[in-house]
Amino acid sequence: MPLRVNAMTNWTLSFVVTVTPTAAVTAAEPQSRALNLPAAPFPYSQVKLPEHVAEVATQYDNTTAENPITDHGATLGRVLFYDSTLSANGTTSCASCHQQSRAFTDDRRVSLGFKGQPVDRNSMSLVNLRYYRNDRFFWDERAESLEQQVLMPIENEIEMGHDLTQLVPQLAAEPWYPPLFQAAFGDPAVSRQRIAAALAQFVRSIVSFDSRYDQGLAVAPSVEAPFANFSDLENRGKDLFFGAARCASCHVASPAGISKQFAFFYVEKAVVNGIDSDTHTPPDLPLDPGVAGVTGDRGDLGRFKSPSLRNVEVTGPYMHDGRFTTLEAVVEHYNWSIRPHVNLDQRLHLEDTSGLAMRQDDVDAVVAFMRTLTDDSLLSAPQYSDPFVHDESEIAADPVVTSATGE
Ligand code: HEC
Ligand code: HEC
Repeated sequence: MPLRVNAMTNWTLSFVVTVTPTAAVTAAEPQSRALNLPAAPFPYSQVKLPEHVAEVATQYDNTTAENPITDHGATLGRVLFYDSTLSANGTTSCASCHQQSRAFTDDRRVSLGFKGQPVDRNSMSLVNLRYYRNDRFFWDERAESLEQQVLMPIENEIEMGHDLTQLVPQLAAEPWYPPLFQAAFGDPAVSRQRIAAALAQFVRSIVSFDSRYDQGLAVAPSVEAPFANFSDLENRGKDLFFGAARCASCHVASPAGISKQFAFFYVEKAVVNGIDSDTHTPPDLPLDPGVAGVTGDRGDLGRFKSPSLRNVEVTGPYMHDGRFTTLEAVVEHYNWSIRPHVNLDQRLHLEDTSGLAMRQDDVDAVVAFMRTLTDDSLLSAPQYSDPFVHDESEIAADPVVTSATGE
């Protein structure tokens, strides 16, 4: 697995400070925090991709020439991602709702913001976003780039409730940020645009291709052939996923003419998968217009982006409103409960209009296949983990303070 990096034990960047939030909203008691980063940054810029991904990955990469991933830039992004200073009352970081052990989602139907208020949608996985070719983000695809997206939660009234004009001087006053900005951008100035660039670099660096599916595909002659490392049930599920159950017709973004490169498991663009009808909504759920809420176009009503199904085993609850708690419930939806909708995607226009009507053992097989998409190494990889030390006992009594550039 090329991305696995040895855990670095030789920490040299170690700060302990008493943090007193300066934001308008009063926070909890000031707390001690320490930041631990490896002496040399993790090699975020050097992604080595398995052969079955390499070609399609270069075609699909949404990294721009203006903001390539650098090791120091993504390191800064990692610190920002885990820093609750980014929220108005110092309680909430990006990682509050995007937890590494859950492939950067949370376990709630809808996430809770900095004051404990529910946001209107389910948290989305941040894995392999670099390869989302359509280059639009959120369930309704309202953000036009990752650089644009990463600032939106900070200023969202419910999510983090902060104000970037206040956040910039607040970060500049923290001991570790000026050296980290210097290392990333050549001088210590903190700015809105640099915060966005660094966060986007870190999010783009979150890449995962070491699931059992990848290990099986790497040595199989084709995606259709049975995988040696799969059980019979998982191979049956793979056949159904790529065949009769039609899942791959949507959930596999793959260019024509490249064999074996079934890599991403997201849907190419936002579509309607029939979880709601256009004439009726369950009384407890208000109708979410999806992409139409952004474009105002009726043809976009009910269209949603689908996160990649990679690691889907750990990203529940599922769908934009988190209505399904299990993968079985998701497959039951496609099996029996597809609802009529003017914009229902063609690929779900079935003979039996309400679903695939598969036997129970086929439902189990599709679920078993989806579980092969989990990449355990990603869920604990040190380069994506929390760089702050929260446990008082782990904070050294006499901290060594050095600069991030190692000078
Ligand atoms: C309060 C919880 C919460 C916090 C804090 C939060 N997010 Fe999110 N994130 C969500 C939810 C919920 C969505 C989906 C929202 C929607 O589509 O309207 C989302 C969506 C995203 C997406 C889009 C993924 C895709 O596939 O389109 C990205 C990227 C993202 N968040 C990054 C971040 C970053 C970076 C931060 C910190 C600056 C952050 N989030 C903070 C809950 C949160
Ligand atoms: C017409 C295209 C289409 C087909 C076919 C399709 N899906 Fe989906 N799928 C979507 C869309 C779009 C979403 C997101 C919908 C939403 O949240 O409103 C989604 C969501 C999901 C989710 C939840 C993802 C998450 O992170 O919340 C899973 C799991 C899933 N689909 C599995 C399947 C399986 C298994 C099949 C085959 C039985 C299948 N899909 C067939 C389009 C499709």
